[in-house]
Amino acid sequence: MVSRTDDSSIEICPSILPADFSRLGDEVQMLEDSGADRIHWDIMDGNFVPNLTVGPDVVASCRKCVSIPFEAHLMVEDPDLLAPLYIEAGCELIMVHVESVRHLDRTLNEILKLGAKAGVTLNPSTPLDSIKHVLHLVDQVLIMSVNPGFGGQKYLASQEPKIKTLKESIEEQSLTVDIEIDGGINEGTIAQATSAGANVFVAGSAVFNHPEGPANAISALRDIANNS
Ligand code: DX5
Ligand code: ZN
Repeated sequence: MVSRTDDSSIEICPSILPADFSRLGDEVQMLEDSGADRIHWDIMDGNFVPNLTVGPDVVASCRKCVSIPFEAHLMVEDPDLLAPLYIEAGCELIMVHVESVRHLDRTLNEILKLGAKAGVTLNPSTPLDSIKHVLHLVDQVLIMSVNPGFGGQKYLASQEPKIKTLKESIEEQSLTVDIEIDGGINEGTIAQATSAGANVFVAGSAVFNHPEGPANAISALRDIANNS
């Protein structure tokens, strides 16, 4: 198979959602040892999505366990209040849902002012147009390929045209912006997500439920993406 010509690097970012929450320090260490590029913290407040996960103190307690970056996927009603807390907790990249803020440009600039990288997230029904005036501000765009709130859901291939158009727009503007995809990414879907233009991949159940363990899952996902 011909390897990718695109020069954006492939990154595999396991979500902690399927992890054993009674042993999160061990779990993030296991993910780092298994070759994860980053840890994807799914932060849910029980309002923006019908699920509730971890606060900044839990993230902070895991920070010392690994050296790979932490990214916070904020699925919360008030990211302006919470983003600074997760930056303080050790998250290098904060991703904000377009649908959760009134003044997106200001919210992203506040994250950047605090020294973190900023990302913006689109739910499956949210059009790309909603971020065209902030694309120059962000380090990453996260495209949801499931409706947020839970792991183990079916991949929505309907998001691939959105990724293709986003990639074209980034290239037209000569921007350096990663395209991350989140939801239902596994060995059966990562090739088409890569071909669409994504280069960063969140994987929860595909990593934690792999029959040969997380290390094999991560290397298999990486190999498929690199050869797509
Ligand atoms: C869903 C989360 C995703 C999810 C991914 O709201 O944002 O990160 O945990 O889980 P899988 O990879 O199992 O779809
Ligand atoms: Zn996520």
